[in-house]
Amino acid sequence: MLQAEQVLQDRYQLQRLLGNNGIRQTWLAKDLQAADADSLVVVKLLAFAGAIQWDDLKLFEREAQILKQLKHPRIPQYIDYFCVDDRSLWFGLIEQYIPGESLKEKLATCQRFSEKQVRKIAVDILNILIYLHELNPLVLHRDVKPSNLILGEDNRVYLVDFGAVQDKAAREGVTFTVVGTYGYAPMEQFGGKAVPASDLYALGATLIHLLTGISPAELPQRSLRIEFSHLVNISPEFIEWLQKLTQPAPEDRFATAALAYNALKSGASLKVVKPPHIQQVPDINNSGCGIASMAPVPEEVLGWNWGAFLMPYLWPFTNKVWVGLLYFVPSVGIIMTVVLGTKGNEWAWKSRRWRSIDHFKRHQRGWAIAGLVVMPMYLIILGLAVALIAAIV
Ligand SMILES: Nc1ncnc2c1ncn2[C@@H]1O[C@H](COP(=O)(O)OP(=O)(O)O)[C@@H](O)[C@H]1O
Ligand SMILES: [Mg+2]
Repeated sequence: MLQAEQVLQDRYQLQRLLGNNGIRQTWLAKDLQAADADSLVVVKLLAFAGAIQWDDLKLFEREAQILKQLKHPRIPQYIDYFCVDDRSLWFGLIEQYIPGESLKEKLATCQRFSEKQVRKIAVDILNILIYLHELNPLVLHRDVKPSNLILGEDNRVYLVDFGAVQDKAAREGVTFTVVGTYGYAPMEQFGGKAVPASDLYALGATLIHLLTGISPAELPQRSLRIEFSHLVNISPEFIEWLQKLTQPAPEDRFATAALAYNALKSGASLKVVKPPHIQQVPDINNSGCGIASMAPVPEEVLGWNWGAFLMPYLWPFTNKVWVGLLYFVPSVGIIMTVVLGTKGNEWAWKSRRWRSIDHFKRHQRGWAIAGLVVMPMYLIILGLAVALIAAIV
């Protein structure tokens, strides 16, 4: 039984258990022989005893072998591999420690990710997948998921855990080891036929988890497709891109990580083919919860509201912002004009049920245009009236 403070190979002093899946243990450890006494490494250990299968050892050795060959700034560097024979047989893999928090830990603290953050994470992971898939022979990770992605202290995403990796295409008729995690791994992987698009599916499922806060295994499915669009407020292009990544059939996804990257960067519409019986799920959102509600208002709808500012005498009616009627109270009115300009968007979002952010924005744009047209006319009429009165007097 391993314990904190224990020293392995006269060199690696175990500090804290990072993961334990029953067969493998992952420890944070101090490298006592490093020039810097506080230098940290990650020690992965596999005990060759009890329920261990040859497959587990095969995967563990492959993890060490492949990690040794990989050179990418956002993949931990291989340091050492050893075998300890003290009463039981242990295999150890030492790798670079990436300071930060895994995306799983981030999700556990209820952190939800915005579209902007998720796009940045997607780009980081795609760059790593492009590197792996373009190696010869190509390397498939096969276990992309939040716990295997570390958000480093430099705010970049790192891919760890090459324990499920495959370094050549599976051959027909050859026995295989089923790897991957339910919810993130696509169907074909459970049949032992992983392809580059299998890592893309896992990436898509991971990003959907980050956006919704719900694990893909718990999200509703229809015809093997993950249904998530009704739970997020993101651009239609990004929804389409995620749907394309998570198509059940690998040939309906992007063929390569590079193609997925280009499509994400170009923002082009992808026209995902939907089976005819599937209706588009309406865009449910948290609008209309009431002005006192603490529900978060999407960032995209906030900001100055010109329509409310320029037409405070009409705007509150269609937006159902009844507090805006204070405009008609003498001496409060002028203050209310500015208050409506500042808070108009937030109040309108909370007061009325909107079909979507787009619906909301179109409505507010209409009022802003009306305000910009009416205001100059109003000022001209007022000016003429003043001039007329002045001429008569
Ligand atoms: N190189 C690393 N740097 C920092 N944290 C790591 C590193 N490798 C693994 N971890 C952390 O330890 C956890 C377990 O390690 P992992 O390699 O994923 O083991 P397992 O094969 O049991 O899933 C990961 O979820 C991650 O949070
Ligand atoms: Mg892992």
